[in-house]
Amino acid sequence: MPGHLFEPGDIPPLGTVPRQMYASVIRRERYGPPHSAFRTEVVDVPEAGRGQVLVLVMAAGINYNNVWAALGTPVDVIAARAKHGAREEFHIGGSDASGIVWATGEDVTQVQVGDEVILSGCQWNEKAPDIRLGADPTTSTTQNVWGYETNHGSFAQYTLVHDYQCHPKPPHLTWEKAACFLLTAATAHRQLCGWPPHDVQPGDPVLIWGAAGGLGSMAIQITRLRGGIPIAVVSSEHRAHHCRTLGAHGTIDRRDFHHFGPMPDPADHQAYTHWLQGVRAFGRRFWDVLGQRRSPRIVFEHTGRDTLPTSLYLCDNAGMVVCCGGTTGYQANVDLRYLWMRQKRLQGSHFANLRQSRAVIHLAATGLLNPCLTLAGTLADIGTAHQRMHDNQHPPGNQAILVNAPRPGLTTLH
Ligand SMILES: NC(=O)c1ccc[n+]([C@@H]2O[C@H](COP(=O)([O-])OP(=O)(O)OC[C@H]3O[C@@H](n4cnc5c(N)ncnc54)[C@H](OP(=O)(O)O)[C@@H]3O)[C@@H](O)[C@H]2O)c1
Repeated sequence: MPGHLFEPGDIPPLGTVPRQMYASVIRRERYGPPHSAFRTEVVDVPEAGRGQVLVLVMAAGINYNNVWAALGTPVDVIAARAKHGAREEFHIGGSDASGIVWATGEDVTQVQVGDEVILSGCQWNEKAPDIRLGADPTTSTTQNVWGYETNHGSFAQYTLVHDYQCHPKPPHLTWEKAACFLLTAATAHRQLCGWPPHDVQPGDPVLIWGAAGGLGSMAIQITRLRGGIPIAVVSSEHRAHHCRTLGAHGTIDRRDFHHFGPMPDPADHQAYTHWLQGVRAFGRRFWDVLGQRRSPRIVFEHTGRDTLPTSLYLCDNAGMVVCCGGTTGYQANVDLRYLWMRQKRLQGSHFANLRQSRAVIHLAATGLLNPCLTLAGTLADIGTAHQRMHDNQHPPGNQAILVNAPRPGLTTLH
């Protein structure tokens, strides 16, 4: 039915592209709490340009980046794109999805209409000078996160991606399982395995913040698979249980400690002593849980402002704090003495390249990595799912919603 909108679940014949679609949309005037920032609207289906692919979204994964998009801070993603000439006054988020290739633009050679795919969340210009000179594309000046920095993410019946973002969907994975894990798993994989010589080695203790969350649940499993010893930080017994089930050696309940936040100025003797006592008590708890007096060789960071000073203090001599986010704030202070005197590494890490994405898809396909899915509803539930994440009230692991898949449990189109 070209030109006609269809209801989710009532999919047109393969390759038939309607003019319009349903999408969960953010507009600038709705920036604020996610539950009211997202609204289902009817918008035009985008056209696949050169090297691009239009994918029918079967299921979409929920990630923290669209909490930030909904809030309109620290980046107003709509205004940022407008500065670069974009004319659309809305944002369709979503950086994880499974679906079916529905149309291809010019010069697309790697996929064809009908392919069942999982989409990875990073885009770049393959002809960029830095990539041509051999840069990892995720470090290119042209790199953008699809469905956050770019428009037409997966919270819609159709999404627009570059052909290299399409990876074969493992046939036995349901649409919703295939949609939920790639962004967090690939990011965690790069953090833990992508920065040699600080890649996890057998016997390495690894401290994992937010270990029951999307990233953390993947990090526990990847650390285990590499022979490391994951120690999980959580804020409830329910989450601690989830982490132990995934293979955490032990857990630390962060509610037992009260020194978190920016590190005080050592000149403020009282405040600094309080911080030092807190961070040392946290370190002793780490040793107790580990069962050895060893510090973490790797600290898995994404929590940011409130935890970074603790991470850097605790990290072993010549170890690494590897950071991909700042949930509690992105301006964190660092005592440089711990960094240089003990020769530690503070490493930034951002999503993953294609090889790293394929690696975690393989782990999920072979059953070595549990995607940790919670199904969070359909398009209409996107705001609520992000609100729960914003309020830290979401279930452990990764969340996904059904878009065109008519019900959970399906692995193919029909
Ligand atoms: N750069 C990248 O490529 C990339 C990729 C993925 C995610 N990220 C970023 O990484 C962050 C986490 O993503 P996610 O998907 O894992 O989110 P998530 O599922 O919400 O997990 C975050 C975890 O952080 C913990 N947390 C919340 N407040 C905290 C606090 N004050 N102190 C310590 N821990 C706290 C929570 O665990 P407890 O309350 O149980 O401790 C929560 O489970 C987000 O900021 C996201 O934007 C970046």
